[in-house]
Amino acid sequence: MKTTNDALIHQLNVALAWELRAMTMYAHYAANVRGIHRLQLAPMFSTEATESMEHGDVVRRAVVKLGGVPVTDRATEPIVHTTAYDAMLQHALSTEEQAASVYRSILDLVEPIDDKDLYDAIEQIYLAELRSVDSIRMLMA
Ligand SMILES: [Fe+2]
Repeated sequence: MKTTNDALIHQLNVALAWELRAMTMYAHYAANVRGIHRLQLAPMFSTEATESMEHGDVVRRAVVKLGGVPVTDRATEPIVHTTAYDAMLQHALSTEEQAASVYRSILDLVEPIDDKDLYDAIEQIYLAELRSVDSIRMLMA
């Protein structure tokens, strides 16, 4: 089952790279958001940065447990600098949608290896990404 594991490790590393990117993006936006919406969005972006770090930690440990080497570089999709909250929400939405689709694909790879703990951990992260997608959409009016 080596090939199954290799594909899974690869895809977990894709997710980890997205979490590393999301962490930096949200921390950047928390510091840069301007205007009245800063009051609510700065704390929200900080929370998302922390969540990305926590998700990344779960994924990193899973890669190690499977015998792989976790990536340390973030996903190459550029982080667009802005101080405008609506542009930030747009970038946040596309990041969360991307993350959700990566985790969805990981669930399909975890299923055949019969590791219930890993499946549950990834499913929880997947559901958290879906919740983020929903809440960001609601903020976009
Ligand atoms: Fe995440």
